[in-house]
Amino acid sequence: MYSSVQDLRANAPVTVSTLREMREKGEKIACLTAYDASFALAEDLAGTDVILVGDSLGMVIQGEKTTVGVSTDDIIYHTRAVAQGVHRAFIMADMPFMSYATLDLAITNATRLMQEGHANMIKLEGGEQQAEIVEYLSTRGIPVCAHVGLCPQLIHKLGGFKVQGREAAAAQQMLRDAKALTDAGADLLLVECVPAALGRELSEQSPVPVIGIGAGSAVDGQILVMHDLLNVMPGQKPRFVRDFTVDADGAAVSVQAAFAAYVAAVKAGSYPSAAEQFFAE
Ligand code: KIV
Repeated sequence: MYSSVQDLRANAPVTVSTLREMREKGEKIACLTAYDASFALAEDLAGTDVILVGDSLGMVIQGEKTTVGVSTDDIIYHTRAVAQGVHRAFIMADMPFMSYATLDLAITNATRLMQEGHANMIKLEGGEQQAEIVEYLSTRGIPVCAHVGLCPQLIHKLGGFKVQGREAAAAQQMLRDAKALTDAGADLLLVECVPAALGRELSEQSPVPVIGIGAGSAVDGQILVMHDLLNVMPGQKPRFVRDFTVDADGAAVSVQAAFAAYVAAVKAGSYPSAAEQFFAE
């Protein structure tokens, strides 16, 4: 928790090396999405280590049903805004649907996210079939986070937002995917919606930090969409979502306090609880 922008600036910015060191020391990495400067600053002050400008913005900002319609220009616009608010956190930006369908598209769009959006790292979805793209970007100096497990850009192939890797064969494939991606140079893995035991295996196998969302408590860090922890979206929530806008006594807290409570819970290992994890069935 930081008291002011000056306080944030007095600290070294988070880098890929910081994230690796945190993992080595066993310090959990707290990550959140943000889409504008004000919320990004509030998250930075709360001590968030990584801020993701996710293509979830298609759903929570643009009101779409999926992330498929998000463009590279959309991500650049929001990443630039986030970068204005951030002083310490590491900024990751999503490569949207089809923006990395070829090596040429991938390098052009990843470069734009870094040069025009001021992202520190890009994130792309998919398994071992993306290893060539990861290697192409990584060997040219672009830090990459590889997103495995539930890949929301594949929603129309998957037929819905479902837990992935429950069957043994699918779990083994995901372990192979993760290895191929880190062998190709991915600096970070993000794992979405998998049984907690598979999250643990992925983390144990991985040479780089593993950030989970609905992937259990044994991974190296956690990420949530900020709208979920602020409980602003109506309707049923996924099992791993916790409402941080109320304290232990049920009293409402400020947005700033909600972000701080999330970071503290991740660092203490009390988020996610057993009830907030998926298990193989
Ligand atoms: O787009 C996004 O916000 C994400 C998170 C769900 C991790 O990829």
